Amino acid sequence: MAKLVVVTRDGTEKTVEGQAGLSVMEIIRDAGFDELLALCGGCCSCATCHIHVDPAFADKVDPISEDENDLLDSSAHRNAQSRLSCQVHFTDALDGLKVTIAQED
Ligand code: FES
Repeated sequence: MAKLVVVTRDGTEKTVEGQAGLSVMEIIRDAGFDELLALCGGCCSCATCHIHVDPAFADKVDPISEDENDLLDSSAHRNAQSRLSCQVHFTDALDGLKVTIAQED
């Protein structure tokens, strides 16, 4: 199974199994990372699933939608690597994808 590398807010790196078809948010949440709140459950309305995607994968992940872009604007921790993890769907082609959980707003 493809791997997803998750870096938590304190810089701890952990590799988990990534199931194709799930969102990156679902994989992180199901792996037990409680600092990714994902309060809206993946409806693209809360921005508490904010991550930073390793630039090496920037052109491999789903493109950002207008709604996601607008929501990310509400975060003080937005940067060029920012995504909402519920809007990034994991595939086997993303094996080794590294994401960092963004600081809390
Ligand atoms: S879980 Fe709410 S926007 Fe992603």
